[in-house]
Amino acid sequence: MAISKVFVIGAGTMGNGIAQVSAQAGYSVTMSDIKDEFVKKGMDTISKSLDRGVKKGTMQESEKAAILARIKGTIDMKDAKDADLVIEAAPEILELKKSIFKQLDEICKPDAILATNTSSLPIGEIANSIKNPGRVIGIHFMNPVPVMKGVEIIPGRKTSEATLVASKEYIKKIGKESCEARDYAGFIVSRLVDALMNEAFYCVMDGNKPEEVDKAVKFCLNHPMGPLELCDLAGADVVMHGLETMYKEFGERLMPAPLLKNMVRSGDLGRKTNRGFYNYPQK
Ligand SMILES: NC(=O)c1ccc[n+]([C@@H]2O[C@H](COP(=O)([O-])OP(=O)(O)OC[C@H]3O[C@@H](n4cnc5c(N)ncnc54)[C@H](O)[C@@H]3O)[C@@H](O)[C@H]2O)c1
Repeated sequence: MAISKVFVIGAGTMGNGIAQVSAQAGYSVTMSDIKDEFVKKGMDTISKSLDRGVKKGTMQESEKAAILARIKGTIDMKDAKDADLVIEAAPEILELKKSIFKQLDEICKPDAILATNTSSLPIGEIANSIKNPGRVIGIHFMNPVPVMKGVEIIPGRKTSEATLVASKEYIKKIGKESCEARDYAGFIVSRLVDALMNEAFYCVMDGNKPEEVDKAVKFCLNHPMGPLELCDLAGADVVMHGLETMYKEFGERLMPAPLLKNMVRSGDLGRKTNRGFYNYPQK
């Protein structure tokens, strides 16, 4: 199953990054969204991201132009008809993803791989909504896509070996490292990071200062960011939603800590409300 044409669904935060790294690796890319203005915004983000490389001297102006020339924009999903690999990066709503996959099942070539960039939704359930679940797989990029080296790859129970092998080859070709995870809520990355954050909430409840918890994780465990800073950045409501999903799957050991629930109820969601574990200047 040779991949040369990649079709990306969604030109948002993740979609434009996926389109960029695919085009940088030489793939012919089409990036889609529901409105022209969203496609244009995604293209502008890619252009600015490549500009950083040009400014740093790691990329020539001519290379940037060649990469951009390999990316087409569209608002018509039917343009996925000749794609070898489709990567869906639409919002994290199970019913939306299932409906996109049903449409792709009709539009795409029978041997095209249909991948989802979901952070936590069940690959098996998305796959089960189409005729050939063997071609469905999770390819979970990290944010920001051009910077982060690791990509989780999540075969569902019915994903074919050919789909898994070709997807791993694609990840290798774009210069990333694939980490294979089983199809349980949160896969590996979200599950571990949520567990770390939840335990950090308990540390604060036990009287530890947030800044000391974050310092301990950054300087003693060598993480680039502390779990409480990360919670403030992602939003306590988003973290709580993730933990509730894990709680349903794994039970008590991933039950959201009472402090997190209290913060969400009080509207202390982190950076977006100027107050979380830390205070932020009014925007
Ligand atoms: N943002 C992150 O840090 C991150 C990290 C890893 C995975 N993810 C996952 O990636 C996916 C996308 O997240 P995001 O942060 O890029 O979201 P986003 O909101 O930035 O972008 C989603 C884009 O999809 C478009 N869209 C909606 N319906 C569509 C359709 N039918 N066809 C084409 N485009 C459509 C929207 O208009 C929007 O531009 C989600 O499943 C999310 O969980 C996000």
